[in-house]
Amino acid sequence: GSVAVIVPAAGSGRRFGSETNKLFAKIDGVALWVMSVRRLRDQPCVGRIVLPIADADRDYFLVQHAELAESLGVEFVAGGDQRSDSVRQGLKRIEGDESVRWIAVHDAARPLVSPEDLQTLFSVVISSKAAILAAPLSGTIRRDLGSHTQTVNREDLYEALTPQVFDAGLLRHAYSHHNGRPATDDAELVERTGHAISIVRGSADNLKITYPEDLLVAEAILARQQAQSNH
Ligand code: CTP
Ligand code: MG
Repeated sequence: GSVAVIVPAAGSGRRFGSETNKLFAKIDGVALWVMSVRRLRDQPCVGRIVLPIADADRDYFLVQHAELAESLGVEFVAGGDQRSDSVRQGLKRIEGDESVRWIAVHDAARPLVSPEDLQTLFSVVISSKAAILAAPLSGTIRRDLGSHTQTVNREDLYEALTPQVFDAGLLRHAYSHHNGRPATDDAELVERTGHAISIVRGSADNLKITYPEDLLVAEAILARQQAQSNH
């Protein structure tokens, strides 16, 4: 249990556009946030799991999902305006806990992360102190140079995914130096302190549910994952 996981769940799901938070949407009958948390909970190295949630969703989580949250061992904290503010709230909750050696941050909106990718990531971070899952780009990328455009060699380009795992002291240090300049992810904040980030090639299955149609893709991926694990 030396890894604490912060699972930001305090967004508003604006692009998804449903009445309740997208994280309550279900695939195969299971809410997205529950599936994300279960997959982390199944890893023996994972101890505490902290979920930053929005005030607007408090009742829904604390009342309607109380038993489930209890059985998953989830600690709820209030989220913040930006994702990084939510992560910071999670960090506060585990402050001073000496048993936490690594801190992972995983989007609640990525329910399909595989056990294999989690295991590889957790084994790599031991030596590198900062490691993230990343997927090779699949599209052809073109750069707009104003007067003309140019193909970009995609061989060394990756899409950053989550989880992103860091030595606990390193992530705390990065957040204590965070001056508010927006960062796209936690790896960028750590990178600003001068520490290198390792990437672990992960499966593109680990998509983030952003738009309603992503649920259809997720259902299909889940069906394939279940079929594979039954063989
Ligand atoms: N998140 C968070 N706190 C915020 C913003 C986002 O904890 N202030 C979380 C979301 O709940 C989600 C993850 O960060 O699990 C990734 O964010 P995103 O996919 O952008 O979700 P939303 O911000 O909810 O969606 P949208 O941007 O469409 O409003
Ligand atoms: Mg967002």
